[in-house]
Amino acid sequence: MGKLSPEEERWLAVDRYIEEMLLPADPVLEEVLHSSAVAGLPAHQVSPTQGKFLQILAQIQGARRILELGTLGGYSAICMGRALPGDGKLITIEGIPKHAEVARVNIQRAGLSGIIELRLGSAIDILPALEGSFDLIFIDADKPSMPDYFDWALRLSRSGSVIVMDNVVRQGEVINTASKDPNVHGVRRLNEILQAESRVNVTAIQTVGSKGYDGFAIARVK
Ligand code: DHB
Ligand code: MG
Repeated sequence: MGKLSPEEERWLAVDRYIEEMLLPADPVLEEVLHSSAVAGLPAHQVSPTQGKFLQILAQIQGARRILELGTLGGYSAICMGRALPGDGKLITIEGIPKHAEVARVNIQRAGLSGIIELRLGSAIDILPALEGSFDLIFIDADKPSMPDYFDWALRLSRSGSVIVMDNVVRQGEVINTASKDPNVHGVRRLNEILQAESRVNVTAIQTVGSKGYDGFAIARVK
């Protein structure tokens, strides 16, 4: 990370404050961050406060089956997996073998190997083989494919399913019509699809914090 602006310093300091005040020390998640950094994984996992938010969302939803696209080191999978009952299931898909390797160890360390099933491969190959519907779907994989992932998420949903999509603001670049960034293009195409999709009730929320300025979209299937 480059030098932080005064605003970014403040967002980071407030996230640290919230973590200190509200989030108990979590050796398992701290080890996920450590092992991910040591292995050279990109530091793209959700922040601690966002991970807790996903966990609470899964609890509110009464989720029994969760689908995640983009495992990375397993941070968000562990956060959401902790909200599941003993017979619950979280399927998480990761396309990069090194990421999956790190995640497997972390999931085991979290005691969630019986609940979290990690599938290594391209989501576009794996998704068609999935059966049944999911109560909560978290889309956090490569951004150019977000429109395709949303399409699959909808197919794997039921009435009342919740679909969360990460990184839909991208430091505000989402409104830059001249952007050449394929990630921004992916998000903008996703928004066009969401705009035209009558089967979901959807919004997007901007966020600041230790991950900078970004946001997530949340859709509930009608
Ligand atoms: C990127 C991806 C993420 O999932 C994230 O949370 C932040 C950044 C990226 O690819 O730039
Ligand atoms: Mg993300």
